[in-house]
Amino acid sequence: MEKFYTLFSLVVAHLIISQKVLALPSLPLHTNSRWIVDEDDKRVKLACVNWVGHLQPMLVEGLSKQPLDTISKKIASMGFNCVRLTWPTFMVTNDTLSSMTVRQSFQSFNLFESIAGLQVNNPSLLDITVVQALQEVVKNLGENNVMVILDNHVSKPMWCCNRYDGNGFFGDRYFKPRIWLDGLNKIATLFNGVSNVIGMSLRNELRGPRMNNSVWYNFMQKGAEVVHDANPNVLVILSGNDFDKDLGMLKNQPVNVSFKEKLVFEVHWNSFAATDGWRNGNPNDVCASQVQFFRDHAFFLLDQGYPLFMSEWGVNLRGNDVADNRFSSCAFALAAELDLDWGLWALMGSYYYRETVMAMNEYYGVLNWDWSEVRNPSFMQRLSALQSPFRGPGLSDHEQYDIIYHPFTGLCVPKSSEAPPVVPVKLDSCAQPESWTYTPEKNLQIKDSYYCLQADGEGKPVKFGTDGDCNSPSAKWERITSSKFHFSTMVGNTTLCLDLGSNNTIVTNQCKCLIGSCEPATQWFHIIPSTIRYD
Ligand SMILES: *[C@@H]1O[C@H](CO)[C@@H](O)[C@H](O)[C@H]1NC(C)=O
Ligand SMILES: *[C@@H]1O[C@H](CO)[C@@H](O)[C@H](O)[C@H]1NC(C)=O
Ligand SMILES: *[C@@H]1O[C@H](CO)[C@@H](O)[C@H](O)[C@H]1NC(C)=O
Repeated sequence: MEKFYTLFSLVVAHLIISQKVLALPSLPLHTNSRWIVDEDDKRVKLACVNWVGHLQPMLVEGLSKQPLDTISKKIASMGFNCVRLTWPTFMVTNDTLSSMTVRQSFQSFNLFESIAGLQVNNPSLLDITVVQALQEVVKNLGENNVMVILDNHVSKPMWCCNRYDGNGFFGDRYFKPRIWLDGLNKIATLFNGVSNVIGMSLRNELRGPRMNNSVWYNFMQKGAEVVHDANPNVLVILSGNDFDKDLGMLKNQPVNVSFKEKLVFEVHWNSFAATDGWRNGNPNDVCASQVQFFRDHAFFLLDQGYPLFMSEWGVNLRGNDVADNRFSSCAFALAAELDLDWGLWALMGSYYYRETVMAMNEYYGVLNWDWSEVRNPSFMQRLSALQSPFRGPGLSDHEQYDIIYHPFTGLCVPKSSEAPPVVPVKLDSCAQPESWTYTPEKNLQIKDSYYCLQADGEGKPVKFGTDGDCNSPSAKWERITSSKFHFSTMVGNTTLCLDLGSNNTIVTNQCKCLIGSCEPATQWFHIIPSTIRYD
Protein backbone atom coordinates (compact mmCIF):
# COMPACT_ATOMS: atom_id res chain seq x y z
CA MET A 1 0.00 0.00 0.00
CA GLU A 2 2.70 2.38 1.03
CA LYS A 3 4.62 1.47 -2.10
CA PHE A 4 1.55 2.11 -4.16
CA TYR A 5 1.18 5.59 -2.77
CA THR A 6 4.82 6.37 -3.28
CA LEU A 7 4.59 5.30 -6.88
CA PHE A 8 1.33 7.18 -7.26
CA SER A 9 2.79 10.44 -6.01
CA LEU A 10 5.81 9.99 -8.24
CA VAL A 11 3.50 9.61 -11.20
CA VAL A 12 1.56 12.72 -10.21
CA ALA A 13 4.76 14.68 -9.71
CA HIS A 14 5.93 13.56 -13.12
CA LEU A 15 2.66 14.64 -14.71
CA ILE A 16 2.97 18.07 -13.15
CA ILE A 17 6.57 18.52 -14.26
CA SER A 18 5.90 17.41 -17.80
CA GLN A 19 2.57 19.15 -18.28
CA LYS A 20 3.88 21.12 -21.25
CA VAL A 21 4.38 17.86 -23.12
CA LEU A 22 1.25 16.83 -24.96
CA ALA A 23 -0.25 13.38 -25.21
CA LEU A 24 -0.60 11.86 -28.65
CA PRO A 25 -4.00 12.57 -30.17
CA SER A 26 -6.28 9.64 -30.99
CA LEU A 27 -4.70 8.28 -34.17
CA PRO A 28 -4.78 7.91 -37.12
CA LEU A 29 -5.44 11.41 -38.38
CA HIS A 30 -7.63 12.41 -41.29
CA THR A 31 -8.81 15.64 -42.84
CA ASN A 32 -12.05 17.54 -42.46
CA SER A 33 -12.07 20.30 -45.10
CA ARG A 34 -9.00 22.43 -44.38
CA TRP A 35 -8.38 20.91 -40.96
CA ILE A 36 -6.35 17.92 -39.86
CA VAL A 37 -8.37 16.09 -37.22
CA ASP A 38 -8.04 13.03 -34.99
CA GLU A 39 -10.32 10.00 -34.61
CA ASP A 40 -12.72 12.11 -32.52
CA ASP A 41 -12.85 14.74 -35.28
CA LYS A 42 -11.01 17.16 -33.06
CA ARG A 43 -8.46 19.42 -34.69
CA VAL A 44 -4.79 18.47 -34.41
CA LYS A 45 -2.54 21.39 -35.24
CA LEU A 46 0.80 20.21 -36.59
CA ALA A 47 3.57 22.16 -34.88
CA CYS A 48 6.53 20.29 -36.31
CA VAL A 49 10.26 20.72 -36.50
CA ASN A 50 12.39 19.41 -39.37
CA TRP A 51 14.98 16.79 -38.47
CA VAL A 52 17.33 15.89 -41.30
CA GLY A 53 18.18 12.28 -42.07
CA HIS A 54 18.76 12.50 -45.81
CA LEU A 55 22.47 13.42 -45.92
CA GLN A 56 25.24 10.97 -46.85
CA PRO A 57 25.45 9.15 -43.48
CA MET A 58 21.67 8.36 -43.71
CA LEU A 59 21.16 8.86 -39.99
CA VAL A 60 19.23 11.73 -38.39
CA GLU A 61 21.64 14.40 -37.24
CA GLY A 62 22.81 14.98 -33.68
CA LEU A 63 23.07 11.42 -32.40
CA SER A 64 26.82 11.80 -31.95
CA LYS A 65 26.12 14.74 -29.63
CA GLN A 66 23.23 13.60 -27.40
CA PRO A 67 21.34 10.38 -26.63
CA LEU A 68 18.31 9.80 -28.85
CA ASP A 69 15.89 9.86 -25.94
CA THR A 70 17.32 13.17 -24.71
CA ILE A 71 16.75 14.74 -28.12
CA SER A 72 13.21 13.36 -28.38
CA LYS A 73 12.37 14.73 -24.94
CA LYS A 74 13.85 18.08 -25.88
CA ILE A 75 11.68 18.23 -28.99
CA ALA A 76 8.56 17.60 -26.92
CA SER A 77 9.58 20.01 -24.16
CA MET A 78 10.09 22.78 -26.72
CA GLY A 79 6.39 22.43 -27.55
CA PHE A 80 6.67 20.63 -30.89
CA ASN A 81 4.16 17.81 -31.32
CA CYS A 82 5.69 16.46 -34.50
CA VAL A 83 8.88 15.94 -36.49
CA ARG A 84 9.19 16.15 -40.26
CA LEU A 85 11.91 13.58 -40.68
CA THR A 86 13.69 13.59 -44.04
CA TRP A 87 14.96 10.42 -45.77
CA PRO A 88 16.63 9.64 -49.11
CA THR A 89 15.10 7.16 -51.58
CA PHE A 90 18.29 5.16 -52.18
CA MET A 91 18.56 4.29 -48.50
CA VAL A 92 15.76 1.78 -49.10
CA THR A 93 16.03 1.04 -52.83
CA ASN A 94 19.77 0.37 -53.10
CA ASP A 95 20.72 -2.88 -51.36
CA THR A 96 24.29 -1.79 -50.75
CA LEU A 97 23.05 1.24 -48.84
CA SER A 98 20.12 -0.35 -47.01
CA SER A 99 22.27 -3.18 -45.67
CA MET A 100 24.96 -0.84 -44.32
CA THR A 101 25.31 -0.48 -40.60
CA VAL A 102 25.47 3.00 -39.17
CA ARG A 103 29.16 2.41 -38.41
CA GLN A 104 29.93 1.35 -41.99
CA SER A 105 28.02 4.29 -43.37
CA PHE A 106 30.00 6.77 -41.27
CA GLN A 107 33.27 4.95 -42.00
CA SER A 108 32.68 5.30 -45.73
CA PHE A 109 32.88 9.09 -45.30
CA ASN A 110 35.72 8.99 -42.76
CA LEU A 111 33.48 10.45 -40.06
CA PHE A 112 35.48 8.97 -37.21
CA GLU A 113 34.77 11.72 -34.72
CA SER A 114 31.06 11.18 -35.23
CA ILE A 115 31.53 7.45 -34.70
CA ALA A 116 33.28 8.19 -31.42
CA GLY A 117 30.37 10.47 -30.44
CA LEU A 118 27.84 7.80 -31.38
CA GLN A 119 29.80 5.29 -29.33
CA VAL A 120 29.35 7.53 -26.29
CA ASN A 121 25.78 8.74 -26.81
CA ASN A 122 24.01 6.05 -28.80
CA PRO A 123 26.12 2.89 -28.81
CA SER A 124 23.10 0.65 -29.53
CA LEU A 125 22.59 2.33 -32.90
CA LEU A 126 26.12 1.82 -34.26
CA ASP A 127 25.92 -1.76 -35.44
CA ILE A 128 22.38 -1.95 -36.71
CA THR A 129 21.54 -0.99 -40.28
CA VAL A 130 20.68 2.56 -41.25
CA VAL A 131 17.09 1.45 -41.90
CA GLN A 132 16.82 -0.17 -38.47
CA ALA A 133 18.24 3.01 -36.97
CA LEU A 134 15.47 5.01 -38.66
CA GLN A 135 12.94 2.64 -37.10
CA GLU A 136 14.52 3.15 -33.67
CA VAL A 137 14.37 6.92 -34.03
CA VAL A 138 10.71 6.87 -35.05
CA LYS A 139 9.89 4.49 -32.19
CA ASN A 140 11.63 6.67 -29.63
CA LEU A 141 9.80 9.76 -30.87
CA GLY A 142 6.54 7.82 -30.45
CA GLU A 143 7.46 6.88 -26.89
CA ASN A 144 7.81 10.59 -26.26
CA ASN A 145 4.42 11.37 -27.85
CA VAL A 146 5.94 13.00 -30.90
CA MET A 147 4.23 12.38 -34.24
CA VAL A 148 6.35 11.84 -37.34
CA ILE A 149 5.98 12.82 -40.98
CA LEU A 150 8.38 10.90 -43.20
CA ASP A 151 9.50 13.23 -45.94
CA ASN A 152 11.13 11.87 -49.08
CA HIS A 153 13.67 14.63 -49.46
CA VAL A 154 16.08 13.49 -52.19
CA SER A 155 16.96 10.26 -54.01
CA LYS A 156 20.74 10.25 -53.61
CA PRO A 157 21.76 10.95 -50.02
CA MET A 158 23.12 14.52 -50.13
CA TRP A 159 22.35 18.11 -49.21
CA CYS A 160 19.31 19.55 -50.99
CA CYS A 161 18.33 21.52 -53.14
CA ASN A 162 19.37 23.12 -56.35
CA ARG A 163 17.87 22.96 -59.82
CA TYR A 164 20.65 20.84 -61.27
CA ASP A 165 21.45 18.41 -58.46
CA GLY A 166 19.85 15.47 -60.26
CA ASN A 167 17.17 15.10 -57.56
CA GLY A 168 14.85 17.89 -58.64
CA PHE A 169 12.15 16.50 -60.89
CA PHE A 170 10.83 13.25 -62.35
CA GLY A 171 13.32 12.05 -64.96
CA ASP A 172 16.36 13.80 -63.47
CA ARG A 173 19.57 11.79 -63.20
CA TYR A 174 18.80 10.35 -59.75
CA PHE A 175 15.02 10.72 -59.87
CA LYS A 176 13.60 7.84 -61.86
CA PRO A 177 9.87 7.59 -61.14
CA ARG A 178 9.85 3.79 -60.81
CA ILE A 179 12.57 3.77 -58.20
CA TRP A 180 10.91 6.64 -56.35
CA LEU A 181 7.58 4.74 -56.25
CA ASP A 182 9.41 1.66 -55.02
CA GLY A 183 11.02 3.71 -52.24
CA LEU A 184 7.69 5.23 -51.18
CA ASN A 185 6.14 1.78 -51.11
CA LYS A 186 8.97 0.37 -48.99
CA ILE A 187 8.82 3.15 -46.38
CA ALA A 188 5.01 3.20 -46.26
CA THR A 189 5.01 -0.57 -45.75
CA LEU A 190 7.81 -0.53 -43.17
CA PHE A 191 5.88 1.94 -41.00
CA ASN A 192 2.42 0.49 -41.49
CA GLY A 193 1.23 -0.15 -37.95
CA VAL A 194 3.59 2.39 -36.38
CA SER A 195 0.89 4.72 -35.17
CA ASN A 196 2.95 7.86 -34.52
CA VAL A 197 3.87 8.00 -38.22
CA ILE A 198 0.93 10.18 -39.18
CA GLY A 199 1.98 11.36 -42.63
CA MET A 200 4.28 10.89 -45.57
CA SER A 201 5.29 13.69 -47.87
CA LEU A 202 5.91 12.34 -51.32
CA ARG A 203 8.81 14.51 -52.42
CA ASN A 204 10.48 17.66 -51.23
CA GLU A 205 10.69 20.82 -53.41
CA LEU A 206 10.13 19.72 -57.00
CA ARG A 207 12.23 21.93 -59.25
CA GLY A 208 14.55 22.28 -62.20
CA PRO A 209 14.39 22.39 -65.98
CA ARG A 210 12.12 19.32 -66.29
CA MET A 211 9.37 20.90 -64.18
CA ASN A 212 6.04 20.33 -65.87
CA ASN A 213 2.48 20.41 -64.52
CA SER A 214 1.05 17.44 -66.41
CA VAL A 215 4.01 15.31 -65.33
CA TRP A 216 3.44 16.55 -61.77
CA TYR A 217 -0.19 15.35 -61.80
CA ASN A 218 0.71 12.03 -63.35
CA PHE A 219 3.38 11.02 -60.84
CA MET A 220 2.04 12.74 -57.73
CA GLN A 221 -1.26 10.89 -58.19
CA LYS A 222 0.62 7.60 -58.69
CA GLY A 223 2.81 8.24 -55.65
CA ALA A 224 -0.24 9.11 -53.55
CA GLU A 225 -1.96 5.83 -54.51
CA VAL A 226 1.16 3.77 -53.80
CA VAL A 227 1.53 5.27 -50.32
CA HIS A 228 -2.16 4.95 -49.51
CA ASP A 229 -2.27 1.33 -50.70
CA ALA A 230 0.72 0.40 -48.55
CA ASN A 231 -0.38 2.37 -45.51
CA PRO A 232 -3.94 3.73 -45.51
CA ASN A 233 -3.44 5.40 -42.11
CA VAL A 234 -1.05 8.14 -43.15
CA LEU A 235 -1.84 11.59 -44.44
CA VAL A 236 -0.51 11.87 -47.98
CA ILE A 237 1.29 15.19 -48.37
CA LEU A 238 1.99 16.71 -51.79
CA SER A 239 4.62 19.34 -52.48
CA GLY A 240 4.27 22.02 -55.14
CA ASN A 241 6.57 22.91 -57.99
CA ASP A 242 9.37 25.47 -57.97
CA PHE A 243 10.90 24.60 -54.59
CA ASP A 244 7.41 24.06 -53.17
CA LYS A 245 6.36 27.65 -53.78
CA ASP A 246 3.82 26.85 -56.48
CA LEU A 247 0.62 24.85 -56.13
CA GLY A 248 -1.20 27.28 -58.42
CA MET A 249 -2.12 24.57 -60.93
CA LEU A 250 -4.65 23.25 -58.41
CA LYS A 251 -6.82 26.31 -58.97
CA ASN A 252 -7.98 24.80 -62.24
CA GLN A 253 -7.46 21.09 -61.85
CA PRO A 254 -7.81 19.12 -58.62
CA VAL A 255 -5.67 16.09 -57.87
CA ASN A 256 -7.55 12.92 -58.77
CA VAL A 257 -7.01 10.16 -56.20
CA SER A 258 -9.13 7.18 -55.22
CA PHE A 259 -9.17 7.88 -51.48
CA LYS A 260 -10.74 10.57 -49.31
CA GLU A 261 -9.86 12.62 -46.24
CA LYS A 262 -6.12 11.96 -46.34
CA LEU A 263 -4.79 14.50 -48.81
CA VAL A 264 -2.71 17.46 -47.55
CA PHE A 265 -0.61 19.96 -49.50
CA GLU A 266 2.64 21.50 -48.35
CA VAL A 267 4.28 24.85 -49.07
CA HIS A 268 7.67 26.35 -48.18
CA TRP A 269 8.04 30.02 -47.31
CA ASN A 270 11.38 31.59 -46.43
CA SER A 271 13.03 34.97 -46.85
CA PHE A 272 14.86 33.71 -49.93
CA ALA A 273 11.58 33.79 -51.85
CA ALA A 274 12.31 37.56 -51.95
CA THR A 275 15.76 38.17 -50.48
CA ASP A 276 16.44 41.44 -52.33
CA GLY A 277 13.01 42.77 -51.48
CA TRP A 278 13.38 42.03 -47.79
CA ARG A 279 16.86 43.58 -47.73
CA ASN A 280 16.23 46.68 -49.78
CA GLY A 281 12.50 47.26 -49.99
CA ASN A 282 9.91 48.54 -47.54
CA PRO A 283 8.86 45.60 -45.35
CA ASN A 284 5.19 46.61 -45.55
CA ASP A 285 5.26 46.40 -49.33
CA VAL A 286 7.33 43.24 -49.48
CA CYS A 287 5.14 41.52 -46.90
CA ALA A 288 2.00 42.51 -48.83
CA SER A 289 3.37 41.24 -52.14
CA GLN A 290 4.70 38.01 -50.63
CA VAL A 291 1.37 37.36 -48.94
CA GLN A 292 -0.41 37.99 -52.21
CA PHE A 293 1.98 35.65 -54.02
CA PHE A 294 1.46 32.85 -51.52
CA ARG A 295 -2.33 33.40 -51.45
CA ASP A 296 -2.34 32.94 -55.23
CA HIS A 297 0.03 29.98 -55.25
CA ALA A 298 -0.83 28.07 -52.08
CA PHE A 299 -3.04 29.60 -49.37
CA PHE A 300 -6.10 29.48 -51.67
CA LEU A 301 -6.16 25.72 -51.05
CA LEU A 302 -7.52 26.38 -47.56
CA ASP A 303 -10.62 27.95 -49.17
CA GLN A 304 -10.87 24.96 -51.50
CA GLY A 305 -11.10 22.74 -48.41
CA TYR A 306 -7.61 21.23 -48.20
CA PRO A 307 -5.17 21.44 -45.31
CA LEU A 308 -2.00 23.35 -46.19
CA PHE A 309 1.11 22.45 -44.23
CA MET A 310 3.82 25.15 -44.23
CA SER A 311 6.38 22.41 -43.86
CA GLU A 312 9.52 24.54 -44.11
CA TRP A 313 9.89 28.06 -42.80
CA GLY A 314 12.54 29.45 -40.53
CA VAL A 315 15.07 32.14 -39.82
CA ASN A 316 18.68 32.54 -38.89
CA LEU A 317 18.45 32.42 -35.11
CA ARG A 318 21.55 34.52 -34.55
CA GLY A 319 19.24 37.43 -35.36
CA ASN A 320 21.74 39.19 -37.62
CA ASP A 321 20.11 38.52 -40.99
CA VAL A 322 18.10 41.57 -42.03
CA ALA A 323 16.05 39.71 -44.64
CA ASP A 324 15.16 36.91 -42.22
CA ASN A 325 14.26 39.33 -39.43
CA ARG A 326 11.90 41.32 -41.64
CA PHE A 327 10.44 38.17 -43.17
CA SER A 328 9.81 36.64 -39.75
CA SER A 329 7.23 39.18 -38.53
CA CYS A 330 5.34 38.85 -41.80
CA ALA A 331 5.38 35.05 -41.63
CA PHE A 332 4.38 34.93 -37.96
CA ALA A 333 1.42 37.22 -38.70
CA LEU A 334 0.18 35.06 -41.57
CA ALA A 335 0.78 31.75 -39.82
CA ALA A 336 -1.35 33.05 -36.95
CA GLU A 337 -4.09 34.54 -39.12
CA LEU A 338 -4.49 31.39 -41.22
CA ASP A 339 -3.76 29.16 -38.23
CA LEU A 340 -1.55 27.04 -40.47
CA ASP A 341 -0.09 23.66 -39.70
CA TRP A 342 3.66 24.12 -39.96
CA GLY A 343 7.15 22.65 -39.70
CA LEU A 344 9.97 24.91 -38.60
CA TRP A 345 13.33 24.67 -40.33
CA ALA A 346 15.02 23.24 -38.28
CA LEU A 347 15.97 21.17 -35.24
CA MET A 348 19.64 20.60 -36.03
CA GLY A 349 22.28 22.43 -34.05
CA SER A 350 24.90 21.00 -36.39
CA TYR A 351 25.48 18.33 -39.03
CA TYR A 352 27.83 15.35 -39.05
CA TYR A 353 28.86 16.30 -42.56
CA ARG A 354 27.14 18.78 -44.84
CA GLU A 355 28.32 19.44 -48.37
CA THR A 356 32.07 19.36 -47.76
CA VAL A 357 32.10 20.53 -44.15
CA MET A 358 32.38 18.37 -41.06
CA ALA A 359 30.51 19.34 -37.88
CA MET A 360 28.90 22.30 -39.63
CA ASN A 361 26.92 24.69 -37.42
CA GLU A 362 23.26 25.25 -38.42
CA TYR A 363 22.23 28.80 -37.51
CA TYR A 364 18.60 28.04 -38.38
CA GLY A 365 18.61 25.21 -35.84
CA VAL A 366 16.63 25.60 -32.61
CA LEU A 367 19.32 23.65 -30.75
CA ASN A 368 22.90 24.84 -30.35
CA TRP A 369 25.98 23.27 -31.91
CA ASP A 370 26.33 20.43 -29.42
CA TRP A 371 22.54 19.89 -29.21
CA SER A 372 22.58 20.55 -25.46
CA GLU A 373 20.57 23.76 -25.28
CA VAL A 374 18.09 25.96 -27.06
CA ARG A 375 19.96 28.35 -29.35
CA ASN A 376 17.62 31.31 -28.94
CA PRO A 377 15.13 31.17 -26.02
CA SER A 378 13.28 34.34 -27.02
CA PHE A 379 12.55 32.87 -30.43
CA MET A 380 11.04 29.80 -28.76
CA GLN A 381 8.89 32.12 -26.65
CA ARG A 382 7.75 33.85 -29.81
CA LEU A 383 6.98 30.53 -31.46
CA SER A 384 4.89 29.21 -28.59
CA ALA A 385 1.67 31.04 -29.54
CA LEU A 386 1.75 29.29 -32.91
CA GLN A 387 2.09 25.87 -31.29
CA SER A 388 -1.53 25.92 -30.14
CA PRO A 389 -4.58 26.20 -32.39
CA PHE A 390 -6.63 29.39 -32.60
CA ARG A 391 -9.64 27.63 -34.09
CA GLY A 392 -10.81 24.42 -35.72
CA PRO A 393 -13.30 21.62 -35.22
CA GLY A 394 -13.94 20.01 -31.86
CA LEU A 395 -11.92 22.46 -29.78
CA SER A 396 -14.57 24.87 -28.62
CA ASP A 397 -17.90 26.01 -29.94
CA HIS A 398 -17.31 29.50 -28.69
CA GLU A 399 -18.38 32.35 -30.94
CA GLN A 400 -15.56 33.75 -33.06
CA TYR A 401 -13.72 36.77 -31.70
CA ASP A 402 -10.60 38.74 -32.61
CA ILE A 403 -7.23 38.48 -30.92
CA ILE A 404 -4.81 41.40 -31.05
CA TYR A 405 -1.52 39.75 -31.96
CA HIS A 406 1.96 41.29 -32.14
CA PRO A 407 4.10 39.19 -34.50
CA PHE A 408 7.42 40.82 -33.53
CA THR A 409 7.15 39.47 -29.97
CA GLY A 410 4.65 36.68 -30.62
CA LEU A 411 2.54 38.12 -27.79
CA CYS A 412 -1.11 39.09 -27.47
CA VAL A 413 -3.27 41.39 -25.42
CA PRO A 414 -4.30 39.12 -22.54
CA LYS A 415 -7.70 38.97 -20.95
CA SER A 416 -8.40 41.62 -18.38
CA SER A 417 -10.12 40.22 -15.35
CA GLU A 418 -11.55 43.57 -14.34
CA ALA A 419 -13.85 46.29 -15.60
CA PRO A 420 -12.71 48.86 -16.48
CA PRO A 421 -9.86 46.84 -18.00
CA VAL A 422 -6.44 47.11 -16.42
CA VAL A 423 -4.11 49.81 -17.73
CA PRO A 424 -1.45 50.16 -18.94
CA VAL A 425 -2.24 47.50 -21.54
CA LYS A 426 0.67 45.07 -21.73
CA LEU A 427 1.37 42.37 -24.24
CA ASP A 428 1.65 38.93 -22.71
CA SER A 429 1.27 35.26 -23.59
CA CYS A 430 -1.47 34.38 -26.09
CA ALA A 431 -2.69 31.58 -23.81
CA GLN A 432 -5.63 33.61 -22.46
CA PRO A 433 -6.21 36.40 -24.93
CA GLU A 434 -8.74 39.18 -24.62
CA SER A 435 -11.69 38.89 -27.01
CA TRP A 436 -11.96 41.91 -29.24
CA THR A 437 -13.98 43.06 -32.18
CA TYR A 438 -12.55 45.34 -34.81
CA THR A 439 -15.78 47.11 -35.67
CA PRO A 440 -16.94 48.64 -38.97
CA GLU A 441 -16.58 52.00 -37.15
CA LYS A 442 -12.88 51.12 -36.79
CA ASN A 443 -12.97 50.75 -33.04
CA LEU A 444 -10.84 48.17 -31.30
CA GLN A 445 -13.49 47.22 -28.80
CA ILE A 446 -13.54 44.55 -26.13
CA LYS A 447 -16.26 42.21 -27.29
CA ASP A 448 -19.67 42.70 -25.67
CA SER A 449 -18.45 45.71 -23.72
CA TYR A 450 -18.36 49.49 -24.01
CA TYR A 451 -14.58 49.63 -23.84
CA CYS A 452 -12.65 50.95 -26.83
CA LEU A 453 -8.90 51.23 -27.12
CA GLN A 454 -7.95 54.90 -27.27
CA ALA A 455 -4.70 56.78 -27.86
CA ASP A 456 -3.59 59.24 -25.19
CA GLY A 457 -0.77 61.00 -27.01
CA GLU A 458 2.68 60.45 -28.39
CA GLY A 459 4.83 58.09 -26.33
CA LYS A 460 1.98 57.39 -23.92
CA PRO A 461 0.30 54.08 -23.12
CA VAL A 462 -3.08 53.50 -24.73
CA LYS A 463 -6.13 53.73 -22.47
CA PHE A 464 -9.72 52.60 -22.50
CA GLY A 465 -12.51 54.98 -23.36
CA THR A 466 -16.07 53.89 -22.72
CA ASP A 467 -19.30 54.35 -24.62
CA GLY A 468 -19.16 57.95 -25.87
CA ASP A 469 -15.37 57.86 -26.18
CA CYS A 470 -15.64 55.21 -28.89
CA ASN A 471 -16.70 58.03 -31.23
CA SER A 472 -13.61 60.07 -30.46
CA PRO A 473 -11.10 60.30 -33.35
CA SER A 474 -8.42 58.92 -31.01
CA ALA A 475 -10.46 55.69 -30.68
CA LYS A 476 -10.69 55.08 -34.44
CA TRP A 477 -7.94 52.89 -35.85
CA GLU A 478 -7.13 52.82 -39.55
CA ARG A 479 -5.15 49.86 -40.82
CA ILE A 480 -2.59 51.64 -42.96
CA THR A 481 0.24 50.73 -45.37
CA SER A 482 0.04 47.86 -47.84
CA SER A 483 0.66 45.32 -45.07
CA LYS A 484 -2.38 46.64 -43.09
CA PHE A 485 -0.39 45.92 -39.95
CA HIS A 486 -0.07 49.53 -38.76
CA PHE A 487 -3.03 50.76 -36.69
CA SER A 488 -3.08 54.55 -36.95
CA THR A 489 -5.19 57.14 -35.18
CA MET A 490 -5.36 60.92 -34.65
CA VAL A 491 -4.64 62.74 -31.43
CA GLY A 492 -5.22 66.40 -32.16
CA ASN A 493 -3.45 66.95 -35.46
CA THR A 494 -0.90 64.19 -34.96
CA THR A 495 -1.12 60.81 -36.61
CA LEU A 496 0.08 58.10 -34.27
CA CYS A 497 0.44 54.34 -34.56
CA LEU A 498 0.20 51.51 -32.05
CA ASP A 499 3.70 50.55 -30.95
CA LEU A 500 5.58 48.42 -28.48
CA GLY A 501 6.74 50.46 -25.47
CA SER A 502 8.98 49.48 -22.58
CA ASN A 503 8.03 46.39 -20.54
CA ASN A 504 5.75 45.24 -23.38
CA THR A 505 3.34 48.12 -22.78
CA ILE A 506 1.29 49.17 -25.80
CA VAL A 507 1.84 52.84 -26.59
CA THR A 508 1.28 55.17 -29.54
CA ASN A 509 4.18 56.75 -31.41
CA GLN A 510 4.73 58.51 -34.71
CA CYS A 511 4.11 55.95 -37.42
CA LYS A 512 7.44 54.59 -38.55
CA CYS A 513 8.94 52.98 -41.62
CA LEU A 514 5.95 53.71 -43.84
CA ILE A 515 8.41 54.03 -46.70
CA GLY A 516 12.01 52.99 -47.26
CA SER A 517 14.16 50.09 -46.14
CA CYS A 518 13.77 50.12 -42.34
CA GLU A 519 12.18 48.29 -39.43
CA PRO A 520 8.45 48.78 -38.90
CA ALA A 521 7.78 45.54 -37.02
CA THR A 522 7.41 46.85 -33.47
CA GLN A 523 4.38 48.72 -34.86
CA TRP A 524 2.90 45.70 -36.59
CA PHE A 525 -0.26 44.33 -35.01
CA HIS A 526 -2.61 41.82 -36.54
CA ILE A 527 -6.18 40.74 -35.94
CA ILE A 528 -6.39 36.97 -35.56
CA PRO A 529 -9.76 35.22 -35.66
CA SER A 530 -10.19 32.74 -32.83
CA THR A 531 -12.86 30.58 -31.29
CA ILE A 532 -10.81 29.06 -28.52
CA ARG A 533 -11.36 29.70 -24.85
CA TYR A 534 -8.58 28.51 -22.61
CA ASP A 535 -10.27 29.57 -19.38
C1 LIG B 1 24.12 1.72 -54.76
O1 LIG B 1 24.90 2.58 -53.96
C2 LIG B 1 26.29 2.38 -54.11
C3 LIG B 1 26.98 3.23 -53.05
O2 LIG B 1 26.66 4.58 -53.23
C4 LIG B 1 26.69 2.72 -55.53
O3 LIG B 1 28.07 2.52 -55.71
C5 LIG B 1 25.90 1.84 -56.49
O4 LIG B 1 26.16 2.22 -57.81
C6 LIG B 1 24.42 1.93 -56.22
N1 LIG B 1 23.71 0.94 -56.99
C7 LIG B 1 22.72 1.25 -57.81
C8 LIG B 1 22.07 0.10 -58.53
O5 LIG B 1 22.37 2.41 -58.02
C1 LIG C 1 4.83 18.63 -70.21
O1 LIG C 1 4.87 17.25 -70.42
C2 LIG C 1 3.88 16.79 -71.32
C3 LIG C 1 3.87 15.27 -71.27
O2 LIG C 1 5.15 14.74 -71.31
C4 LIG C 1 4.18 17.36 -72.69
O3 LIG C 1 3.21 16.92 -73.62
C5 LIG C 1 4.17 18.88 -72.61
O4 LIG C 1 4.56 19.42 -73.82
C6 LIG C 1 5.10 19.37 -71.50
N1 LIG C 1 4.88 20.79 -71.30
C7 LIG C 1 5.88 21.64 -71.25
C8 LIG C 1 5.51 23.06 -71.02
O5 LIG C 1 7.04 21.29 -71.37
C1 LIG D 1 -9.75 9.95 -61.99
O1 LIG D 1 -9.05 8.74 -62.03
C2 LIG D 1 -9.86 7.60 -62.29
C3 LIG D 1 -9.03 6.37 -62.14
O2 LIG D 1 -7.81 6.50 -62.79
C4 LIG D 1 -10.45 7.75 -63.69
O3 LIG D 1 -11.28 6.66 -63.98
C5 LIG D 1 -11.27 9.04 -63.75
O4 LIG D 1 -11.74 9.26 -65.06
C6 LIG D 1 -10.42 10.23 -63.33
N1 LIG D 1 -11.26 11.42 -63.22
C7 LIG D 1 -10.93 12.57 -63.75
C8 LIG D 1 -11.89 13.69 -63.53
O5 LIG D 1 -9.92 12.73 -64.40
